[in-house]
Amino acid sequence: MSQMSSLIWRRLRRRYGLHWRAVLSRPIVTEMDAQGGELRSTLLVCLCLPRSCRNLTHTDHVMRSEKLLIVGAGGQGKVVLDALLVAGDSPQLVLADDDESKYGRAVLGHKVSALSDALTNVKSFHVAIGHNAARERLTQRLTDRGLTNRYIAHIRASVSSSAQLSEGVFIAAHAVVGPDARLDLGCIVNHGAVVDHDCSVAAYSHIAPNATLGGGVHVGRRVLIGAGANILPGIYIGDDCVVGAGAVVLDDMEPGSVYVGVPARPNN
Ligand SMILES: CC(C)(COP(=O)(O)OP(=O)(O)OC[C@H]1O[C@@H](n2cnc3c(N)ncnc32)[C@H](O)[C@@H]1OP(=O)(O)O)[C@@H](O)C(=O)NCCC(=O)NCCS
Repeated sequence: MSQMSSLIWRRLRRRYGLHWRAVLSRPIVTEMDAQGGELRSTLLVCLCLPRSCRNLTHTDHVMRSEKLLIVGAGGQGKVVLDALLVAGDSPQLVLADDDESKYGRAVLGHKVSALSDALTNVKSFHVAIGHNAARERLTQRLTDRGLTNRYIAHIRASVSSSAQLSEGVFIAAHAVVGPDARLDLGCIVNHGAVVDHDCSVAAYSHIAPNATLGGGVHVGRRVLIGAGANILPGIYIGDDCVVGAGAVVLDDMEPGSVYVGVPARPNN
């Protein structure tokens, strides 16, 4: 690459937060052969991620210049760390947990600190805990201390520029968030999950890997939509519900209910 194009690229990157590595880290031909339309969606994400960030109170640029506390050194913590590392240019990361048995261990090369120690030197955080109530509790605790809650999306997630994403949301690799979808505080859209157009997902809900919400679905607070579940378009799911892995939900769900199976029925 010539010096001039390298300079232009660096400026574009600084200005718009574009991700060079996402586009060229693998040979283009291999990527197209192996994954069909993948290249097109990768390019799309690179361009749309900064735009969707404009719906938020922070941007990718701010993140790079600060120390970011990731709370949770379990499976979800690993997934979030991975998303930050794969993007390159990640901020300085501090990984913490309040489970003593994890202190001092390394997760993807990052040593786990005690949460109380890690809090002294950070201004922003992201709670990477899959359990909805625990994520809510910790988010509240850290927000009360005046820390800023960061949104994180994997560079290979596809997020519509018209989607509205709140603080603390995490969107994993190959997840899709459609146009005019809305994700409230601290929601997780995990690997390969689809939140289609006009859905609304209330705070601290978790859409597990490969689950699909059809268009216009409403998901209440602290709901777990299990792995691979399908929710038909327009369905209403009340607060604190659980949809079992692999279920197909055809009817609205009362708050607090647990449905499993195909078609999904209450799990008594
Ligand atoms: C629905 C769920 C919450 C039930 O958990 P639980 O209350 O511990 O239920 P149990 O394992 O005791 O099973 C109770 C009964 O429900 C059945 N069952 C449990 N999960 C089921 C599912 N997903 N689909 C169909 N039946 C299911 C069990 O076979 C059992 O039936 P039985 O009484 O006839 O033997 C759980 O099984 C589940 O699917 N969780 C989602 C997990 C997930 O996707 N996590 C994402 C992590 S990223």
